[in-house]
Amino acid sequence: MGFLVSLEGIDGAGKSTQAANLAAALRLADPDVVLVREPGGTELGERLRELLLDRQLARPPVPLAEVALFLAARLQLLSEVVSPALARGAVVVADRFLDSTLVYQGLARSLDPGLILELHRLTGADRLPDLTILLDLSEERAATRLGRGLPLDRIEHETRGTAGGIRRGFRELAERAGGRIVVVDADRQPDEVAAHCLELVRARRVQRDAAGGGS
Ligand code: TYD
Repeated sequence: MGFLVSLEGIDGAGKSTQAANLAAALRLADPDVVLVREPGGTELGERLRELLLDRQLARPPVPLAEVALFLAARLQLLSEVVSPALARGAVVVADRFLDSTLVYQGLARSLDPGLILELHRLTGADRLPDLTILLDLSEERAATRLGRGLPLDRIEHETRGTAGGIRRGFRELAERAGGRIVVVDADRQPDEVAAHCLELVRARRVQRDAAGGGS
């Protein structure tokens, strides 16, 4: 039984950097660490990612089709990569996971999060992370960071006016998650944020092992 940690947050919060940092730091003590990103991480998932994030689509997917595509990418990732890795006892670091769907498709597409969760349960894609780190940053700071980076993808582009709502959505989810989601201040030097993330993983693994559930 491995350990699944996901990183979440608004675009520009530094998830991809911190996910890579975390995987590299964990590898120093444990060689079997797998880093994945969502959507993506498999051949099918990367193809779906291209479709989902393509701003050139003349007719973008309707909300439920969009959820179905994110879910298909997740199912494939779970089946090909995440579940086998966890079964052999690996640590999996996921750059986004289920909570992104709950917040982005729930808020930006006005879909009922209950319906999204139900779809996840029905398809068996509802493996919850052992720990979710919410990298929290003001929308203004995130926008400054994004402005220096790559062009916005379709969903970033469509939600750029609602980053504050997305941030609130993540924070509200964290409050209701019963400790699974830990909010981390991402408005600090990357090294400080990385050290905090690593400490949270260590602590949660110790806690889980002490509770008798760990490997
Ligand atoms: P991300 O990988 O963070 O993009 P970047 O390449 O900038 O690091 O995320 C891709 C986009 O997909 C992001 O705008 C959020 C969106 N997304 C959803 O809308 N729902 C989901 O379930 C997931 C996983 C991502």
